[in-house]
Amino acid sequence: MSELSIRNLHVGIDGKEILKGVNLTVRQGEVHALMGPNGTGKSTLAYALMGHPNYQVTDGEAWFKGQNILDLAPDQRSHLGVFLAFQYPVAIPGVSVANFLRTALNAQRKAHDPADKGIPIPEFRKLIKERMELLRMDLNFAGRYLNDGFSGGEKKRAEILQMATLRPEIAILDETDSGLDIDALRIVSEGVNALRNPDLGVLVITHYQRILNYIKPDVVHIMMDGRVVESGGPELALHLEEHGYDWLREKIETEPA
Ligand SMILES: Nc1ncnc2c1ncn2[C@@H]1O[C@H](COP(=O)(O)OP(=O)(O)OP(=O)(O)O)[C@@H](O)[C@H]1O
Ligand SMILES: [Mg+2]
Repeated sequence: MSELSIRNLHVGIDGKEILKGVNLTVRQGEVHALMGPNGTGKSTLAYALMGHPNYQVTDGEAWFKGQNILDLAPDQRSHLGVFLAFQYPVAIPGVSVANFLRTALNAQRKAHDPADKGIPIPEFRKLIKERMELLRMDLNFAGRYLNDGFSGGEKKRAEILQMATLRPEIAILDETDSGLDIDALRIVSEGVNALRNPDLGVLVITHYQRILNYIKPDVVHIMMDGRVVESGGPELALHLEEHGYDWLREKIETEPA
C-alpha cells in the first residue's frame, strides 16, 4: 500500500505564485475530496502533479511509490499509476476514442514490460465494450474522434472511460461532476465506484456535495489561496453546502499563520 504524499508544494504560472505550500496525502484505497472557491489553485495542483509544462514547481515534493513524481516526465507519472481526468478535456480531431485508448494502454503495458507486443485487438474490443457498458456509453463513441463535438457530459464520461481502461492507482478527478445531468452523475459515480479497490486512491475535486453522496469521501480538504486550509470528514462538505466559505475566511484571518 502506497500513498501520494504532497509536501510543501509551491507552483507558479508565468512567474505568479498560485500554490503556496500545499500539504496533502492521499492513501491508496481512500477517496479524498478537494473543495474550495474558484481560482484557489485546485486545477493548478492537478496539472502540476501530472507535469503540465506551463506550471512551474518552485518548491516542494510529491512522493508516490518511493519516487518524487515531480522529477518524472508526464508519461512516466502516468505509467507509475497517476491519472488525471481533466476539468476541460481537449478535443483531438483525427484520433478516435478507441485508437487513443489502445495507444495509451499499449504504452502503459510496454512501460511495465518492454517485451509486450500490445493488447490483441479482440481482447481490446472486449475490454472497451465492457468498460463502455459500465459507463452506459453508446458503443459508437469508440469510433468518434476524441472529445470532438462531444457534449460537456460526454467528455466527462470519456475521461472516466480512460480511467476505467488504464486502471490507475492515484486518480485525480477535476470537476468530473460539472456538466453531468442527474442520471449521468449517478452513472459516472457508479463507474468510479466500480473501479474502487485497495490499490486506488482518488482525489475528487468538486464544488458540490452532490457527487460525494455517490463517491463517498474518507477525507474532505478545502483549498484557499493556494493552500489546504482545512481537512475533515464528509461532514465538512455538508457544512460548506450550508454555510459557504465565509466562516473559513474569518477563521483563517483570525488565526495566527
Ligand atoms: N496561464 C495563466 N496565467 C495567469 N494566471 C493563471 C493562468 N492559469 C491559471 N491562472 C490563475 O491561477 C489561479 C488558480 O487557477 P486554478 O484553475 O488552479 O483554480 P481552481 O481552484 O481550479 O478554480 P475553479 O474552481 O474555478 O476550477 C486562478 O486565479 C487563475 O486565474
Ligand atoms: Mg479548476
